[in-house]
Amino acid sequence: MDRTFVIVKPDAVERGLAGEILARFERKGLKLAAAELRPIDADLAGRHYAEHAERPFFPELVEFITRSPSLLVVLEGPQDTWKVVRSMMGVTDPKEAAPGTIRGDFGTLVAENLVHGSDGPESAEREIHLFFPHL
Ligand code: RTP
Ligand code: MG
Repeated sequence: MDRTFVIVKPDAVERGLAGEILARFERKGLKLAAAELRPIDADLAGRHYAEHAERPFFPELVEFITRSPSLLVVLEGPQDTWKVVRSMMGVTDPKEAAPGTIRGDFGTLVAENLVHGSDGPESAEREIHLFFPHL
């Protein structure tokens, strides 16, 4: 078994899409290992998105991800589960994301793109421990 980390971001929770998004992952065959609705504070947001700290969009990114609760999720599945999740999410900019993906079906703005998924096995483990220290 492999696992990865997903954030159903504030825009998705605010729009009532959390259940729809979780259901897609469950129907695909991925299993919920942890799920918690919780606000992300600025300190945790900064550590999670540390690789983007110097980018011009970083302040906007932190403001967005902290503005209301997110659904924090650990998903279990086969080897390279992170890849399965990333392909179901679609590319970063929802305008470019393929129909059938979460971002392609539900979004139009790069700043409000509904979901985060770990981009590799190391980031998956790092992020799981950051948000769920006991796991
Ligand atoms: P995420 O980390 O949230 O899963 O998204 P991602 O891997 O697809 O994209 P990443 O490059 O890691 O960017 C993180 C988040 O920053 C925002 N962003 N804004 N204004 C821009 O040009 C820009 N580029 C990235 C997006 O909200 C993206 O999800
Ligand atoms: Mg990323």
